[in-house]
Amino acid sequence: MLTETKKPTTAEFIAGMREAGRLASEVLDYITPFVKPGVTTGELDRLCHEYMVQEQKTIPAPLNYQPPGYPPFPKSICTSVNDVICHGIPGDRILKDGDSVNLDITVITPSGYYGDTSRMFLVGDASIMAKRLSQITYEAMWLGIAQVKPGATLGDIGHAIQTHAEQAGYSIVREYCGHGIGQVFHDEPQIVHYGKPGIGQALVEGMTFTIEPMVNAGKRDIRTMPDQWTVKTKDRSLSAQWEHTCLVTATGVEVLTLSAGSPPPPECIGSLKFSA
Ligand code: MF3
Ligand code: CO
Ligand code: CO
Repeated sequence: MLTETKKPTTAEFIAGMREAGRLASEVLDYITPFVKPGVTTGELDRLCHEYMVQEQKTIPAPLNYQPPGYPPFPKSICTSVNDVICHGIPGDRILKDGDSVNLDITVITPSGYYGDTSRMFLVGDASIMAKRLSQITYEAMWLGIAQVKPGATLGDIGHAIQTHAEQAGYSIVREYCGHGIGQVFHDEPQIVHYGKPGIGQALVEGMTFTIEPMVNAGKRDIRTMPDQWTVKTKDRSLSAQWEHTCLVTATGVEVLTLSAGSPPPPECIGSLKFSA
């Protein structure tokens, strides 16, 4: 029998994306108390995998994900520690006091929608430096989100993010970016985290995409490890990332990847309305 994906109505699509976003964020809520000195990244992956598959009945999108030119990703979440920028593969690495780690979760719901979100975790007593990098990156993500409304451009988002990170003396990774998301993982458009106001594609009500700046404490240059996935800073400086999935609404933005454990938006964005 032939199977096909029926094109959803707008209301169905938004409902599907809200559910996916909330579930992805709830995986981060679930794993938070386990991110402690002594735990391995592999154990965090195993716990998240079990939670997604057994409790939520979602599918971890990273597992066996294979974009053209890559080997299949072997685990269910990404764990990016210290100088790892993104796509860290969970394994035997033991988290120790002072580490900072990004956990990146993407779920596929039973109805076929993707929700993609990541948070930074400071393990035990983190350095002032690691805290500041995480905080500035979090603010940069939200300043990008605050630009989202019909008629704004991709350059407006990128500019807000880039300006904040660079003012703090940090650099923006260029090789990886946010992306359209919906009934597929990585879709058009690319949401780059640098740019100029008013330049690039204009946003339209109903679009869904991620904003996920990767910010390095040192230079922006990257190097990819022999596993072909793990991306590190070339100068071994610390790197941080936060990610939300967003919906363009009639008047602004709805952040879809929110749940009870989401940290509140930073003070610097003021009174932005970001939920339905
Ligand atoms: N979740 C990542 C993103 O934000 C993509 C991870 S792909 C993987 O786009 F294969 F490494 F999991
Ligand atoms: Co992600
Ligand atoms: Co993403």
